[in-house]
Amino acid sequence: MFQSLTMLLLETQLCVVSGAAALFTVEVPQQLYIVEYGSNVTMECRFPVNGSLNLKLLTVLWEQKRQGQSQSKEVYILRNGKAFPASQHQDYVGRAALLQSELKLGRAILQISSVKITDAGSYLCIIEYQGVDYKYVTLQVKATYKRINTQVMRKPGEDKFVFMCQSEGFPLAEVFWQNEKNFNLSGSANTTYTLTADGLYNVTSILMFKPNMSENYSCVFWNKELNAETSAHISTSALMSTQYSGQKSLILFIIPTCVMVVILPSALIILQKRKSFKNGQHKEDRKRQLNASLKDEDRDDFNSQTEALYMSTVTASRDSGSVDL
Ligand SMILES: *[C@@H]1O[C@H](CO)[C@@H](O)[C@H](O)[C@H]1NC(C)=O
Ligand SMILES: *[C@@H]1O[C@H](CO)[C@@H](O)[C@H](O)[C@H]1NC(C)=O
Ligand SMILES: *[C@@H]1O[C@H](CO)[C@@H](O)[C@H](O)[C@H]1NC(C)=O
Ligand SMILES: *[C@@H]1O[C@H](CO)[C@@H](O)[C@H](O)[C@H]1NC(C)=O
Ligand SMILES: *[C@@H]1O[C@H](CO)[C@@H](O)[C@H](O)[C@H]1NC(C)=O
Ligand SMILES: *[C@@H]1O[C@H](CO)[C@@H](O)[C@H](O)[C@H]1NC(C)=O
Repeated sequence: MFQSLTMLLLETQLCVVSGAAALFTVEVPQQLYIVEYGSNVTMECRFPVNGSLNLKLLTVLWEQKRQGQSQSKEVYILRNGKAFPASQHQDYVGRAALLQSELKLGRAILQISSVKITDAGSYLCIIEYQGVDYKYVTLQVKATYKRINTQVMRKPGEDKFVFMCQSEGFPLAEVFWQNEKNFNLSGSANTTYTLTADGLYNVTSILMFKPNMSENYSCVFWNKELNAETSAHISTSALMSTQYSGQKSLILFIIPTCVMVVILPSALIILQKRKSFKNGQHKEDRKRQLNASLKDEDRDDFNSQTEALYMSTVTASRDSGSVDL
């Protein structure tokens, strides 16, 4: 039960003014509010105002209670027309407001900005104005798995690729993997999640397999409770870009190594001249090599140089801590 002092106070008054209370009723135009995480929400309770509002006689209390929690939190208190921030719960400090201009119309509108997952729950509005009454409204918060991060890596020493999709949302989503023909590949996927400080699910799904180079793949985040899904497509050309970023880091590695090994100043000058020439040549060779191997159905004949390329990519992404291989 809601256990605030104000509630007790109001309930006592409710008994005293029971005759008048029958005339004074609080109404809610909307019972359920479903909002996106991070957005603003306004929830409304209506009360009768005859003529012009006497603010001094008005007390409005908004309380929140989360499912499974016994304690309720004071979200906003207006007592005899004055805001009463002292007893406001810290979760709502700076985020909750009562739209003052609407009060004269008999509308006690609570605005909560930057809605959090923990804001979800049951909200009670108690209004006292020449009578007292209360109503409940429900707030649900959802967070769509909007931004899906994708990554493709080659598994070192194997001809398999590691596909990764990661996103944050609420409630928990299931992840499916499929090819263009909607053939389900999820069987070998490993989907894990952590909770972020904001109460969102951080879902990561990893699928390791040997892809068909002439097909694109997608991961689907299915939010069962909201019956909503978002997906990200991984085109097999992403495998090319994987190689490409690897190639860059390999060049970055080769150049300083060469510079260190060749100490003689004269040699350095020669190297400088050659480097610009070689660099161009290098890229051309590499491109041809990659194109050839991509066309090849059998991935096993990747030469050791290409393998190194992939390994450096994997190392780079491991540094960023995004995938645990
Ligand atoms: C509103 O107030 C007027 C006078 O102030 C009164 O005559 C009338 O009965 C009131 N109406 C209601 C619904 O309370
Ligand atoms: C949400 O509310 C805050 C504070 O009242 C305001 O600054 C912001 O512009 C609002 N955002 C939207 C999307 O309405
Ligand atoms: C899935 O990944 C987690 C974390 O990376 C690991 O602990 C777990 O063993 C994996 N499960 C399977 C079935 O591969
Ligand atoms: C790869 O995909 C193409 C086009 O969808 C298909 O014709 C071919 O049979 C697939 N190959 C394998 C090995 O699945
Ligand atoms: C895969 O996706 C890329 C980019 O979205 C597209 O250009 C290509 O045609 C797709 N491949 C197939 C086989 O549909
Ligand atoms: C989500 O998890 C990934 C790794 O699984 C991590 O890189 C990322 O920082 C996490 N994001 C948040 C907001 O916790």
